[in-house]
Amino acid sequence: MRSFAGRDILSLKEFERDEYFQVFEVCERLKHYARDRHNGDLLKDKTLLTAFYQPSTRTRLATEAGMHRLGGHVLGFSDAKMTRAGDFYQESIKDTVHMLEYYGDVIAMRHFQQGAPREAAKWASVPVINCGDGWGEHPTQVLTDLYTTWKHKGTLDGLRFLCVGDMRMRTMHSILYAAAQFDIQADLVCPPEMSLLDEFKAELAERNVTYREMESVEDCIADADVIYMEPVVQADYTKSRDEGGEDKGLTPAAYQVTRELMRAQAKRDSIILHSLPRMDELPADVDNTRHARYWFEAFNGVVMRMALLALVLGAVE
Ligand code: CP
Repeated sequence: MRSFAGRDILSLKEFERDEYFQVFEVCERLKHYARDRHNGDLLKDKTLLTAFYQPSTRTRLATEAGMHRLGGHVLGFSDAKMTRAGDFYQESIKDTVHMLEYYGDVIAMRHFQQGAPREAAKWASVPVINCGDGWGEHPTQVLTDLYTTWKHKGTLDGLRFLCVGDMRMRTMHSILYAAAQFDIQADLVCPPEMSLLDEFKAELAERNVTYREMESVEDCIADADVIYMEPVVQADYTKSRDEGGEDKGLTPAAYQVTRELMRAQAKRDSIILHSLPRMDELPADVDNTRHARYWFEAFNGVVMRMALLALVLGAVE
């Protein structure tokens, strides 16, 4: 098996089946720090640099929390406007990263340009972790989602996922790349203008990923083991910040998962994942049903980032 030490985490295209379980096993070893709310010293000699060119609540703070839990140091920026990349100079990724690599031992980057973390990794002498790049991918979120699924279903094989939301979204890309490594079948439900792009469909075909495109959650929710959600009332992920208009619109019923629908049609043991933030596609009264697992995802998000930091910094194998 390949070592994670010194590796970039850029895409789930590059993950092999055994590597998912290797990461999950490290999560199991380290999760006590988050569960028991105490900090250790595994990464006490290391520094994380967070370079966030787009807003984030969960990804940045879970990564920073994970580093603190392991006794490491954290510095960075959460708004590129405070750097030379966001002012008059529009400093390039290459020049910026040539600076940042001397300030930390690992760089966690979110960017509005698809491929920006890969570009950063070309120039950085330290590992780069992709924390979401435009519409591209969101590997650490989807590793968190799959770890949550594995914990709650006991397996990643033999499961049918209902993916509902914008299929151009970075989480959807990463989860469908990951599906290639498991016996996962996917039902995809989205508005027509948010369908999978042709080039992505070609990649899924090449990877032998099995999926059906369906019109409404009602058509397939009864078959789902895992309901994997994203908004269809959606920001523009190619912008550094999207304030949205006054009227953001409402989610059509075809793309909503409600308490009533779950009661009427869902499998008793199906689980709902949502990377959050949500709009009205997942009403808050679903939260206290037995299906909701998104708050477990929030906890697991810290555990997953601890594991990834420890692995790429060579503190665990
Ligand atoms: N799930 C997720 O990526 O959330 P943030 O945008 O808050 O990081």
